[in-house]
Amino acid sequence: MALSSGHLKRGTELICMAATNSKSLERERAKKRIEQLRKEIEHHRYLYHVLDTQEISDAANDSLKNELVQLEKQFSELITPDSPSQRIGGVALQKFEKIRHETRQWSLDDAFTREDALRWEERNRNLLSDDATKPAQFEYEIEPKIDGLHIALTYREGVLQSAATRGDGFIGENVTHSIRTIEAVPLRLDKQIDIFIEGEIFMHKDEFEKLNQRRAKSGEPLFANPRNASAGAIRQLDPSIAAQRKLDCVVYECSNASIPIPAKQSDKLQFLRELGCKVNPYVSVQRSLEGVCNAWQEWGTRRSQENYWIDGVVVKINDIELQRRVGYTGKSPRWALALKFAPEEATTVLKDVTYQVGRTGKITPVAVFEPVKVHGTIVQHASLHNFDEIQRLDIRIGDTVIIHKAGDIIPQVKQVLKGLRPPHAQAIKPPKKCPSCGAPVHKEDSDYVDYVCSNPRCRTIFLEELTYFVGKGGLDIKGLGTKIVEHFADVGLVTKRSDIFGLQKAELLELERFAEKSADNLVAAIERARRVTLRALIRSLGIPLVGDQTASLFVGYLERSQGAIRSIRELLRAMDSITLEGLLSVHGIGERVAQSIVAFFAHAANRKELQEFEHRGVRIIREQRHQKSQIFNNKTFVLTGSLERLSRAKAQHAITQRGGTVSSSVSAKTDYVVVGLGPGSKYDKARALGVKTLNEAQFLAMIN
Ligand code: IVH
Repeated sequence: MALSSGHLKRGTELICMAATNSKSLERERAKKRIEQLRKEIEHHRYLYHVLDTQEISDAANDSLKNELVQLEKQFSELITPDSPSQRIGGVALQKFEKIRHETRQWSLDDAFTREDALRWEERNRNLLSDDATKPAQFEYEIEPKIDGLHIALTYREGVLQSAATRGDGFIGENVTHSIRTIEAVPLRLDKQIDIFIEGEIFMHKDEFEKLNQRRAKSGEPLFANPRNASAGAIRQLDPSIAAQRKLDCVVYECSNASIPIPAKQSDKLQFLRELGCKVNPYVSVQRSLEGVCNAWQEWGTRRSQENYWIDGVVVKINDIELQRRVGYTGKSPRWALALKFAPEEATTVLKDVTYQVGRTGKITPVAVFEPVKVHGTIVQHASLHNFDEIQRLDIRIGDTVIIHKAGDIIPQVKQVLKGLRPPHAQAIKPPKKCPSCGAPVHKEDSDYVDYVCSNPRCRTIFLEELTYFVGKGGLDIKGLGTKIVEHFADVGLVTKRSDIFGLQKAELLELERFAEKSADNLVAAIERARRVTLRALIRSLGIPLVGDQTASLFVGYLERSQGAIRSIRELLRAMDSITLEGLLSVHGIGERVAQSIVAFFAHAANRKELQEFEHRGVRIIREQRHQKSQIFNNKTFVLTGSLERLSRAKAQHAITQRGGTVSSSVSAKTDYVVVGLGPGSKYDKARALGVKTLNEAQFLAMIN
């Protein structure tokens, strides 16, 4: 049918109406979200600034503010003067006397990437472009940025007159009474001069842990971080609270002095040190921005080894005359920049939950988010682990959540911001069917937290099992990656694990993926894998809860109680006499693991598969044990961070070979935590619990 012009017109109108509708719908949605965000941000502001407590991290709060700013940019007509986005700086509390600062208390601009830093340098270079005396290269001074409370100290004729918080940058609160209790703050300088000094008040991590332990015992609320604990102490009318909290102070700026101040930032710090002030020992001078960025990166991995919290480094143009020439923006100096570590937390919205089935049949709920950048990478998914976790978090689809990523570790949902829950948020229901094969799912027993696929022939379970069997954690057959394994299964070459040992070169050559050489290599790798230690065989079977370490304990027990096991037939025979009680007598094998082992060998299909391995020529060989002296007998180790000279696996092996065990989490029972570069929260936990830590060199010295 031909369309008349009337039709066309009406069509266009309809499209326009639809567009206007969707635009106003979007605006309506944004409006609601903006209102919610403002309320939430205000709530956290009140907690932080008025009550000196914190429910969520700064990074998570920044993430919320960022979303608000983005929405307001899109719908600028929705900006109101009272929006948190319109705020500049904090406001002084009523309960303290106000002090007008002699020198404006500036903030610092933040940078998160090298590009940000390069842009900053470029801008400064451009500012000086007309200047005949502009330097070819800036010299920089850098210092760690301690995450504490900014303090402004006024000295008259060498004597501390007053100490004030930052406030709004112009007027702060008089907290002299509390600051006087801090030994790192000199009450009298080494010279009788007038001077205005700026620095940071902070609390050591171990003091912080002790404080929180005391508070937990007496039922008081815990502090979220050392900064809150120090801010809380300083802003008390009773100075004895600050005295009890053992605070520290370093200084980094001075002005308005009655004698000349050195012309370089780095010398200024030396000058402050000579006056009797405490200055951070890690101050350095760098000839280029490249050097600055390298030092920044290095601090990123080293920071957790210090006993105070560092949230970045501060870079400053070293020449004070140049500082003066590049000057200030409305709120911060152009000559300084805070190079922050990528935040480990961000907020985003849960869009959906999908399910994944794993090797053991366990079905894992996986969160799908609006993409968000966390610690330098875009995050879109995170495992929700199981339904207990979903209940614990009380998470629903549509919720705004905080995602946390410690170091380079997998992202986790840390918290749900219930204040931002939309009315239509949807509860997450357990799956009824396996996401792979569609078979019904069930719980193993009533207090078991996981749902499992009921189909023993589920394709995904089989593929996962198979990949594990031939992979690094199993027989480690070179050249058999996930893709190839899947391909073998697809074309029907492999329908059970033992088929791997029957693969022929001629069959491989029929597949597109294989040529003469690759087929030879794979056949040779399979041939090598036929000769296997009992420990590797057990490990490769994928018995639930049995990894390499348990396999080793189990084999040790088998051989102690049944004698040497030289073939699969002997293994099956030995298993006939193994009982739950016997297994439970092994140090390191608990109830669930023992049950899992017994159940595996009781299952006829598993025994049959083991017999097939034997028919396919799988032979058990003795483990090449060069007996190491058992120096780590009964010692438990935890590894964190990356080691430079040993792989994780080698380090683990070195420990178990010497009689020690490796655990994945730190507890009071841990004997040693080996700390590599970029350690995670395990390091903090070790310190908090007073567990001995070893750096790589110390660990190597022990094993050599
Ligand atoms: S210089 C004129 N240096 O970071 C520039 N600030 O985000 C004034 N901070 O308010 C600041 N360590 O409380 C400077 N080595 C350091 C610092 C440092 C921590 C804090 C300070 C400041 C905040 C800005």
